[in-house]
Amino acid sequence: PKLNVYTQQTGAELGDLFGIFFEDLNHAADGGLYAELVQNRSFEFDPVDRHDYHPLTAWEKVERGGGRACLSVESGSSVHPENPHYAVIEILEPGTGVGLSNAGFNTGIPVKAGEKYLFSVYMRRSGSFGTPVQVLIEDSSGAVNASVEFTVDSAEWQKYEAVLTAEVTDNSCRLVILTGGAGRLELDMVSLFPEKTYLGRRNGLREDIALLLAEMKPRFMRFPGGCLVHDGSLNPDDRNSMYRWKKTIGGVTSRPPRRNNWGYNQTLGLGYYEYFQFCEDIGAKAIPVLPGGYDPHHGRMVPLDELGPWIQDALDVIEFARGDASTEWGAVRSSLGHPEPFGLDYIAIGNEEVGEPFFERYPYFHKAIKERYPDMQVINSSGPFAAGGEYERGWASAREHGSDLVDEHYYQSPEWFLANMDRYDHFKADEPKVFLGEYASWGNTYYNALVEAAYMTRLEHNAHAVGLACYAPMLCNVDYVNWKPDMIWFDNHQVFGTPNYYVQKLFMNHQGDRLLHIEAENLPEQPEGLQPPVKGSIVLVAEKSAVTYRDITLTNNLTGERRVIEETVELDDAEAAASKEEELRSFLLGNTDWSDYTLQLTARKNGGVRGFLIYFGMQ
Ligand code: AHR
Repeated sequence: PKLNVYTQQTGAELGDLFGIFFEDLNHAADGGLYAELVQNRSFEFDPVDRHDYHPLTAWEKVERGGGRACLSVESGSSVHPENPHYAVIEILEPGTGVGLSNAGFNTGIPVKAGEKYLFSVYMRRSGSFGTPVQVLIEDSSGAVNASVEFTVDSAEWQKYEAVLTAEVTDNSCRLVILTGGAGRLELDMVSLFPEKTYLGRRNGLREDIALLLAEMKPRFMRFPGGCLVHDGSLNPDDRNSMYRWKKTIGGVTSRPPRRNNWGYNQTLGLGYYEYFQFCEDIGAKAIPVLPGGYDPHHGRMVPLDELGPWIQDALDVIEFARGDASTEWGAVRSSLGHPEPFGLDYIAIGNEEVGEPFFERYPYFHKAIKERYPDMQVINSSGPFAAGGEYERGWASAREHGSDLVDEHYYQSPEWFLANMDRYDHFKADEPKVFLGEYASWGNTYYNALVEAAYMTRLEHNAHAVGLACYAPMLCNVDYVNWKPDMIWFDNHQVFGTPNYYVQKLFMNHQGDRLLHIEAENLPEQPEGLQPPVKGSIVLVAEKSAVTYRDITLTNNLTGERRVIEETVELDDAEAAASKEEELRSFLLGNTDWSDYTLQLTARKNGGVRGFLIYFGMQ
């Protein structure tokens, strides 16, 4: 075979085609990319975040050498009202030391021999001003790896800082704080960062994970979600509010604790300033996703005449990124340490919203943004991919209002990707472009990665219609899994890229500028009967109780023909889901002539949508 490449006949520009998507699920931020080593540093964990959380989650009382103390958490006069809680050690018997210890994430706090760690804490005490407070990094047997001593001689909050150097490498340490004397020692915002963060930034990012991302050379980064953006209440002051970016900037003591909708606490230590800074550091364009005033999971919506502050959030984040220091939000950015604008080309309103309330609200955002910033590329949302209905509604809205891009999401079987290689072939260049803001085939095998690579060649091929694409989810802590597959996996001291990561990296490292016309000669005949391979396993995941499965259909991978098996199945709990799985398994196994089909389900809980797939086939 011969391939002719015509360098004079150029086609569509590839623009910013391949980038990354960061969402704080799977502990991607706290216990992940955000380098803080102390878990629950300001004693704000709460059962609202996760049913078994409490203000002392990850903390333990320490009593040594006959010491006795009460460890509690109080509120009312903390360092900052946004983080109202602080720890109190009531010293009953000093012994050889009483205090508390923090367990970090995964197996503990990881340290490397010879490396420096930046410790900081706010403390005050009721007396015994001459009694030192010791801060120790200890191994699991109590052997001291690094230590420092402070004199706390004030009944008012003071910040104490020190650099600790680890003597030995150990991934399972504890941070221990001990004192003696009498009365109360109070602590707030206890923090330990490796000195070595990505590019050495303070309040920075874990170097190894950030490097893996930087090495991809993504053209853009979409953040901060995902469902995390729109799943929440309408009141920005609520712990479980939708993601409101203004709460995430400024000193970390002023950033309120947040219930992450993936079922844990989010400190917001990694906030909008850090996101923009990271984008700049790795040469990626920032794509912030803002809530559109509608929570599709709970059916909450901002009344149309109260949308003002939500639209203002969108306008202000643009000014935060683009404005010079003479503008209100440019001045805020400048005061945080970045006098020069970050720049911003794209903004997304909404993530995967399904339903009319979103499309009623979107035009207000779109109009206000375009009036003030006509060159801003505004991204509309089309919901999770499912042929027909709601998905088409997103495209109709985009066409009607002139959105620059439409965000599409799909998680599908490799067979689906193979069967849909031509998905964008008929999309037109003069329509809004596709932002494939989330996609992955179900798995981290070489086969999955290869299929995704094949699909990415078709995204390139259709660059006239596809503007941006990013794999999802990106990061996963192995001990806190909300969703899989993921592109990069890590624990508290190691990180590795999956085959899918290396495919993404390959494409990003070699992003072209323009399509060239190519013709192939003497291609070998495709062998008769060649079909996409079909997996032999069945996976039905019912993560939550009381799910409703809708549209249980079989799709022929080769022809696209769909057969509806059941339209709606209500299930009360995981057990019912397991029995449904069994029923479907038997049904499929008894229908071997259906071996080239993919079974697709859409599960709906509280108005939200989760896509699940069953792959079935005879090998
Ligand atoms: O990527 C995981 C989740 O999948 C995202 O939060 C959401 O947008 C989609 O449902």
